[in-house]
Amino acid sequence: MASGADLRVTGLADILFLSRVYKVSAAVNAAAKLELFSVLAAQFPQGATLPQLSRALGLYQPTPPATGAAAAAAAAAAVAAEGATKGDAAAAAAVAMAADSTAAGQHPTSTTATGAGPGSGPGSGPEAPSASAAPSPLVGAGSFRGAADWLDLLVSVGCLEREGEGPAAIYTNSAAADRFLVRGRPEYSGGILCLNSDRSFPMFTYLSHVLRHGSLPPESNQTIPDILTTFGSDVAAAEFFAEGMTGASLGNFTRLARAFPFARYASLGDLGGSAGCLACCVAAAHPHMAATSYDLPPVHAAAERYVRAQGCEGRVQVVDYDFFSDDPVPGRHDVIALGMVLHDWGLPRKMALLRKAFAALPPGGALLAIDHLVDDGRRRSPLQLGMSLTMLLEFGAAESAFDYSYQEFCGWAREVGFASTQLIELVGTAKAAVAYK
Ligand SMILES: C[S@@+](CC[C@H](N)C(=O)[O-])C[C@H]1O[C@@H](n2cnc3c(N)ncnc32)[C@H](O)[C@@H]1O
Repeated sequence: MASGADLRVTGLADILFLSRVYKVSAAVNAAAKLELFSVLAAQFPQGATLPQLSRALGLYQPTPPATGAAAAAAAAAAVAAEGATKGDAAAAAAVAMAADSTAAGQHPTSTTATGAGPGSGPGSGPEAPSASAAPSPLVGAGSFRGAADWLDLLVSVGCLEREGEGPAAIYTNSAAADRFLVRGRPEYSGGILCLNSDRSFPMFTYLSHVLRHGSLPPESNQTIPDILTTFGSDVAAAEFFAEGMTGASLGNFTRLARAFPFARYASLGDLGGSAGCLACCVAAAHPHMAATSYDLPPVHAAAERYVRAQGCEGRVQVVDYDFFSDDPVPGRHDVIALGMVLHDWGLPRKMALLRKAFAALPPGGALLAIDHLVDDGRRRSPLQLGMSLTMLLEFGAAESAFDYSYQEFCGWAREVGFASTQLIELVGTAKAAVAYK
């Protein structure tokens, strides 16, 4: 699944699947954005019911019926759900079902979608549709169908597990969600889901516009901060972006730290290092390595915090440096990294960065370019080309930023003067293209 290689159409079902799978992505990303997994882990280690989660996450809660048997049933269902724990889910479900059947028995209209509005007791005649939702057998009181659908979608894709049915069902994080999507866990990667939720995903709604006009429409700026402003001056946007990049890159950098022979080298300089994720991964895995993360000032404080949190203070330096300035790379490094940096730029700036890295490296030094490399034939890379389109959306046709193939990388490396190249597989579609001086 992670390579996206099976995203190929052979018939109508596949076409429809491709067209609507984004809804699943959006639901998963929203779960990270609403901190569902972190709240479950921190507040409900034994699991939580839908009503509990609705309250804890601040989800929409329908106005409860004001009076009558339906109100009593709602209260009973809420108590049942509230009291439910993993161990007594069945008992709680029984109580919830009893509450619902009580409502059905005492109030013949309360099982319909339109019943149980204020003043709608027995004998009060035909009822008008009401905004006050009666507790449904599926969700109980204090929750709504949308929240249940969302949670059960997350169950369906393996982000959550569910024990039981209806309002008393207990939701817990799946093992994968608990490991990667709970804030504070060592491998937390949820930032990229939040970035996809709030930045990439809304941006993709403008794809047809950008393909026609070459850049985002001006109104998009109201919800999506401009990328160069994000990098250069908007601290809040830069920190949000940096957390996203850490989420996107942590798995790759952890693997790269093991796969590349850092034992032969002494010092890493990571250009565009964002929060310092690569520098920390390398420093943690190779105690002999010094590491410096270079980036623009808006991300400096976030990087200092990240380095401290990783226990790498003193081992990893955070330095402000504009890699497009005329100044050479400040430190002396025998490995220079460009993590998801080359793909941000059009060919002239790509070449400028490669030349700058080449000039800074000693003979025998290595350049590591980490990106989602497109296959040479450009026929098996839906996710990589999706990434390349993200660069179009971010930077516009004028910059003409793009994701590239290993073949292209090798050509550029030769042109700049590197002696040899190597490809290292990372996670999913990510790879490290290495050039040795
Ligand atoms: C796509 S992010 C990659 C972050 C990180 N290397 C990774 O792979 O997760 C690009 C980074 O380049 C930085 N950047 C952009 N323009 C820069 C410049 N002129 N000088 C230094 N860093 C820059 C951004 O601030 C951002 O952190």
